[in-house]
Amino acid sequence: MIHNTEEFMSRIRNVLFTEEEIKAAVKAAGQRISAEYEGKPLLLVSILKGAFVFLSDLCRAVTVPCEVGFMAAKSYYEGTQSVGEVQITMDLKQDISGYHVIIVEDIVDTGRTLRDVAELLKKRKPLSLKVIALLDKPDRRVVEFEADEVLFTIPDKFVVGYGLDCGEYYRNLPYIAEYGE
Ligand code: IMP
Ligand code: MG
Repeated sequence: MIHNTEEFMSRIRNVLFTEEEIKAAVKAAGQRISAEYEGKPLLLVSILKGAFVFLSDLCRAVTVPCEVGFMAAKSYYEGTQSVGEVQITMDLKQDISGYHVIIVEDIVDTGRTLRDVAELLKKRKPLSLKVIALLDKPDRRVVEFEADEVLFTIPDKFVVGYGLDCGEYYRNLPYIAEYGE
């Protein structure tokens, strides 16, 4: 548990992407989605918890009608170490077969979460399925997976903010920063 702001902020290293940079990238992504999905039933599926901030900004940058849905997947159990197993802890409530689906995720790290979630959703026969990720750490990949769109590519560093956590903290930072003990 982190008890005060000084301790909280002492783990924050350099800011990789400012609030303004993120805002501009999300707005551009929303415009691309709006152009591509005009006239199509669109469902944005966010993977909780990490993608909740990205989804909330992205859906407001989308100007065409769309619905949102939520799933929860867990792959990081403690600290910064992945245990290599993905658990779907909450599933979507809606039938996706009549929708063009975009999975909205915070980061592609080992690739396991998105590979598993994409495989699962594909079986439900959506009209189409794409993946947009805020961040990508290609150096960390252990399974073959590429998102259709990535907003920022980063080196193998643990980052927090804008939805991404360390031990459930830092999701509320409006920027993305490198984390260090
Ligand atoms: P995967 O390893 O690609 O399955 O990624 C699983 C999850 O790990 C992501 O959805 C994030 O929630 C989390 N994750 C991966 N890298 C980071 C990071 O640098 N900071 C915070 N969370 C991360
Ligand atoms: Mg996540």
